[in-house]
Parts: sequence; C-alpha cells; structure tokens
Amino acid sequence: MTLSGRAKLAGVIGWPVEHSRSPRLHGYWLQHHQIDGAYVPLPVRSEAFERALRSLADLGFRGVNVTVPYKEAALAACDEVEESGRRLGAVNTIVMGNGQLRGFNSDGFGFIENLRRGGPGWQAKEAPAVVIGAGGAARAVVAALIDAEVPEIRVVNRTRPRADAVAKDLGGPVRVLDWPQRGRALSEAGLLVNATSLGMTGQPPLELDLADLPMTAMVNDIVYAPLETPLLARARARGNLVVDGLGMLLHQARPGFAAWFGIEPEVTAELRRFVLAD
Ligand code: ATR
Repeated sequence: MTLSGRAKLAGVIGWPVEHSRSPRLHGYWLQHHQIDGAYVPLPVRSEAFERALRSLADLGFRGVNVTVPYKEAALAACDEVEESGRRLGAVNTIVMGNGQLRGFNSDGFGFIENLRRGGPGWQAKEAPAVVIGAGGAARAVVAALIDAEVPEIRVVNRTRPRADAVAKDLGGPVRVLDWPQRGRALSEAGLLVNATSLGMTGQPPLELDLADLPMTAMVNDIVYAPLETPLLARARARGNLVVDGLGMLLHQARPGFAAWFGIEPEVTAELRRFVLAD
C-alpha cells in the first residue's frame, strides 16, 4: 500500500542485511493488516552503528530489529534493556520513542512459541532436554527452557568451555556433557534441539547417534535452510515428532511488530509459504 506522511517506520539493522528475511516477513504483516507503515533493510558499518541508531530515533523510526554482528553492541547502545536482553547479553529488538532506545531479546520467546505450536503435546516439566551448541542462539534456547521449567537441560558443545560458560551465566538445572557423550545424553530426553549451525546449507550435518533418543521425544532444529535438515529427516524417519526452525524466526518477530505498529500479528501457514518463497 502507499504511505502517508504519518507512516510508521521500522527496519532491520546489521551488516550485511541482504540475506535477512525480516523485511519480507514484516512486509507481509504490514500488507495483511493494511498498515500505513514500512519496514526496511538498514545495512550499517560498525563504526556508524550507534550513530545510526540515534539518527533513526531522531528520524522518528518506531524501532528496529538488530541482526549480526550488532546484537551485543545494541545492548550497550540502549538506554534501557529488559531482562530478556540483559540475561543473554544481546538485544535483537529496539523500540524507539521520545529519543529513547529500549531493547529486549525475543529469540527465546520465538523458540518456545515455535515448540508449543509445533508440538502442543510437549510437556516441558516431564523430561530432560538436550541442547547441542553453546553460541548466542543456544543461550536463548537454554534460557527459554529454564523459564519453561524443564527439570534438566543437558548442554553439549564441541568446545566445552563455552558450554560451561552458558551453565555459569544462566544458572538453572543445566548439566554440561562432553562432545563425545552427545549420543548418550539423549537417553530419557523429552526434547532434542540442534542450536549449532550444523546441517545448514553449505555446512556439514550434525553427527549424532539417535539410538538412545526415546520415541516420545520431540526434535527441533534452529536451522531453517534447509527446512528439513539431515537431523530432522533422520528423526522423522525413526518416528519422532519434529519441529523445523522457521517458526522461531517468525515468532521472534511478533513482539517487535506489535510494539512498532500496534497490532499483534499471527504466524500462519500462508506466512510460512510467503517467507519461504523467496
Ligand atoms: P550463534 O550465535 O548463531 O549461535 P555461534 O556463536 O558462532 O553462532 O555458535 C555456533 C555454534 O555452532 C557453536 O556451538 C559451535 O560450536 P563451537 O562453540 O565449538 O564453535 C557450533 N558449531 C559450528 N560448527 C561446528 C562444527 N563443525 N562442529 C561442531 N559444532 C559446530
């Protein structure tokens, strides 16, 4: 739709941003709700990052999503950061108003909403969860699982000290296991999450023996390109319920959109098709 002089503006700031699906995703919702607004890509070099944020606020932007490599820098740049951002040391959404920058992190929200919609039968409190990985994405996943009151969260990472740091920083019932133990970590688990980049197009697959994984366990991959990673394909073939990673991307976008444009958007099958058909 065409814009008026009162159009609400938002965007995604990062470097690079050309591969971001956020403009397409928010653009779909803007169109769907016939909102007088725009969501634009904002590629900004690191030396200009903070200045750009202040300028966007001066220009009347409602806010931005923050993507690589600025999620940590965004935390430092905000005037106020909600617990979700402070806890992860990273901000992916900024709301602007009166020249103030308020940041939060919606990755954990996106992760848990995706699981709850994709596997409505999942009982968080019933069984341990296994998280493979200890990067920024894994932190958001582990924090969300702590909040969901999962009784034990087994974190396995190739570089063990990073997993130890996750346990130390986030607290909760986190248990760190060594990388060669990852197959055995699956016994009695109710959930398995790949939070590494393994399985992504152009990356090797995650090597993980699923023999000890209970058939009742749900399997989720945060990778969404391809939609069905080799891990999800193997899990599905042996009969586990699988939830792909696209939903995490779609759901994490909801709180920002609602804050900037004043409407709670929905994640639908049509939105999934639209974002994928790119
Ligand atoms: P993000 O912030 O997106 O999570 P990251 O911090 O670079 O990205 O983390 C990537 C994750 O994928 C890490 O857990 C990483 O393991 P290391 O901490 O050992 O690097 C994991 N990863 C990437 N390539 C891997 C590989 N070939 N084998 C095992 N783990 C790998």
